[in-house]
Parts: sequence; C-alpha cells; structure tokens
Amino acid sequence: MPETDLSRRAVFAAGAGCVALALLGACGSGSEQTPQDQSTAGTGLPVKASSVPVGSGIVAGDVVVLQLTEGNFTAFSAVCPHQNFKVQPPDSTGVITCLGHMSHFKAADGSRIDGPAMSGLTPVSVKKDGENIVRA
Ligand code: FES
Repeated sequence: MPETDLSRRAVFAAGAGCVALALLGACGSGSEQTPQDQSTAGTGLPVKASSVPVGSGIVAGDVVVLQLTEGNFTAFSAVCPHQNFKVQPPDSTGVITCLGHMSHFKAADGSRIDGPAMSGLTPVSVKKDGENIVRA
C-alpha cells in the first residue's frame, strides 16, 4: 500500500474520532469549552449578588460564584484542574460539571467527585461588598 493511502486513512480515522468526541462534547469549540489559564482565577469578579441564584450559582469569567444558602456566598475557580476547560454552574443536586471530559465536583466544597480531574476546584475567597460579590 502506498504511504499516501496510509496517511489518508490515518487522517480520516483521526477526523472520525474527533467527530465522535465532538458528539460527546469532548471537542467543543464554544467559549465555555475553551481551556483557561488557571493562574488568573477571579477575573469575573465583581458580580451582582442579585445575579447569583439561591441554591445554585453562576460562572462569571473564570470564577464560579455560589449562593448555596441565602446570603452565603462562596466561589471556586471555574477552571477545571484537568485540562483547564471552564466548568458549568452547579445543577439542582449541587454538582458542578466540566463538560470538557466530564469531571464532577461538589458545589459545597469544590471537591472532586469523579472524572479525569485528579483534584478539586481551587477556592476563591469572596465577600459581599454592598450589592456586589468581590474578591476578599
Ligand atoms: S478539562 Fe475538565 S474534565 Fe477535562
């Protein structure tokens, strides 16, 4: 078999694999699926306290801000420790998901539940300052 046939097959196989992964969300190209720099956590702050739903949270820039109980705000880096994709806000069960490769974290403390990430989310110290949640 000529080398070019083998190369074409390899390229086709790699492309087909990426298509399959894309269907699973692993080859995402949207802004929520872009690897982020872990060193700048907090660039999404400040956020309006009123924009953070009670019992849940929001992703603002590279930080996920939570209000799991009314008036108590916490935050973690929204940058997944696996390959720096941005995580999603917590679901109704208090689980934060990274759609990059499906790591899951507890919204309560940022700890890793499962998936390829080997550690939890990095805490970001925040406080309420007037109407805003800011870095503490
Ligand atoms: S980047 Fe989050 S699981 Fe891979």
